[in-house]
Amino acid sequence: MLLNRIKQFFSAITSKITPQDINFINKYLDFHEQQLFWQMDTPTQRHCLNVAYTCLILSKKYPEVNKYILIKAALLHDCGKKAGEVNTFHKVVIVVINSLFPGLAALLKRLGKNKKNNTLFRAFYIQSIHDKRGAGFANDIKLDSRVVNLILLHHTYVENSDLELKILQMADNAN
Ligand SMILES: [Fe+2]
Ligand SMILES: [Fe+2]
Repeated sequence: MLLNRIKQFFSAITSKITPQDINFINKYLDFHEQQLFWQMDTPTQRHCLNVAYTCLILSKKYPEVNKYILIKAALLHDCGKKAGEVNTFHKVVIVVINSLFPGLAALLKRLGKNKKNNTLFRAFYIQSIHDKRGAGFANDIKLDSRVVNLILLHHTYVENSDLELKILQMADNAN
């Protein structure tokens, strides 16, 4: 778990989007969906691309999976965090405080609601609502309700969940 976080941190600070990534995004996202994609910061875009590539690999084992829905959701699952809201430093602090001091984390989330962007308080708040907020953004552009639901539930344990949600959560945890 910790090793994974360290790996995440280094991939975040060195993240780049390549021409192949752009082709991939053009293949799976239309104009409005791409607006949601491009409003994330580069490390989050890189993370979403990596999650989508992992989903593609995992979905090869399950031919019944709806690849179109899954990849759209993977590329957009963290769109509830826009650039300037939760940076890489914030992410590290959030992970540490969430696991060591959950009471303090809850307080910071509450206090962050009315704080300005680019503050740790605000980052805590945004991180805590990004699944619901991202689903709201997706709903606003009339994305397929199955994609909206995958974004909404990507951090929620759902018993007997759809295969698409299981794969998305596996891929998110691996990246
Ligand atoms: Fe997320
Ligand atoms: Fe994620």
